[in-house]
Amino acid sequence: MDQQTQQFVETFAEQSHPDVLEQFDRASLEELVAKHETPFMVLDLEEVDYQYKSLQAALPGVKLFYALKSLSHPELIKRLKSLGSYFDLATIGEVELVESLGIKGDQCIHTHPIKKDKEIKRALEFGCNRFVVDNLEELKKFIPYAGQVELIIRVSFRSQQAVVDLSRKFGCALEELPVIVELAQQNGIEVVGLSFHVGSQSLSPMMQVNAVRSSIAAMKVMNSVKWKFLDIGGSFPVSYQEDVLPIADFCAPVVEALADLPEGVEVFAEPGRFISAPSMIEVISVVGKAKRGARTWYYMDDGVYGGFSGQMFDHASYPIAPLKPFDATGEFLPSVLAGPTCDSIDVIAEDIELPELEIGDILIGKQMGAYTIASATEFNYYPKPKIVVVEDIFDPETEAL
Ligand SMILES: Cc1ncc(COP(=O)(O)O)c(C=O)c1O
Repeated sequence: MDQQTQQFVETFAEQSHPDVLEQFDRASLEELVAKHETPFMVLDLEEVDYQYKSLQAALPGVKLFYALKSLSHPELIKRLKSLGSYFDLATIGEVELVESLGIKGDQCIHTHPIKKDKEIKRALEFGCNRFVVDNLEELKKFIPYAGQVELIIRVSFRSQQAVVDLSRKFGCALEELPVIVELAQQNGIEVVGLSFHVGSQSLSPMMQVNAVRSSIAAMKVMNSVKWKFLDIGGSFPVSYQEDVLPIADFCAPVVEALADLPEGVEVFAEPGRFISAPSMIEVISVVGKAKRGARTWYYMDDGVYGGFSGQMFDHASYPIAPLKPFDATGEFLPSVLAGPTCDSIDVIAEDIELPELEIGDILIGKQMGAYTIASATEFNYYPKPKIVVVEDIFDPETEAL
């Protein structure tokens, strides 16, 4: 092969089979594999720091309320508490979890737009008095608690470009705001803020920018309310298979739009995925192997009923690669990665090209902290993967990649 062809082959190979694990310190990964039986997930607390600080730097002055639903591991919550984070709660279970970790109610907001009375009571008993509502029936539930609560009204902004459009299910139309505010005022219930969530894994900041602008306009029109907060929700994206904007670039136009807020209005955000997704990887191994037609099927010891459940519920497709070093210019075979359960839907990757693997080989899935273990099941009586907590598995030289 002449030099030019060789170069082309190498470049092409690099592009089509990028080294998914290049950011990691492979020696640390190998050490973990030697110590723990697969499948297991690795929660990297240094990465929690890194993501939290990056988002805080990109949204100066904004109070970050970590959305527990994306990943509620106590060690992650404790680390965020030590960083000064606030918390976004939605259930009694989440209230009790943060309470058990020494977090105070006034460091939290309760953002579930639909609640049972006992959920309101439990949150209040914990000391959390800020709740989200998005309709009149929900508002009426707070009449007995007038004087004790501060309400934030959630507005719906539909988003086609978010991977998960949350405004389909929750949020009122902007035009409904005056009626909700009026009923609150008639009953002596304090309305203090507006909130929205333009959808999780939002690929462009423009929906958030438009939602900020519309919310500010609504606040200015409804000047009978003493507005204290605008809550811009979650949505901040991470790279799975596709590249996304660096967080500073994603947030810059949002910050610019926030500059028009009336004086004295504080800004909240409720990030989940951005903090939790990059903080966890999953380590799985090949249990079985079969050639079926043109493809080699590898049967792994975890799949979409376990740690990879986000492929079903969160529409995510995780970058995945073998741990053993491979030759990027070598042979790659059309392969299928299947989970262990008896269900045929349990397939992690259908059209993946991989170097030949053997039974016992290890694969690593990246960006697996958000909406993964949170929705994992124990179907077929396979236990959920355990979570190993570490301080740093990233290679300091490539961490910024
Ligand atoms: C009310 C609320 N806040 C925050 C989040 C977290 O969103 P994300 O993971 O996109 O940051 C969600 C996600 O479902 C949510 O429903």
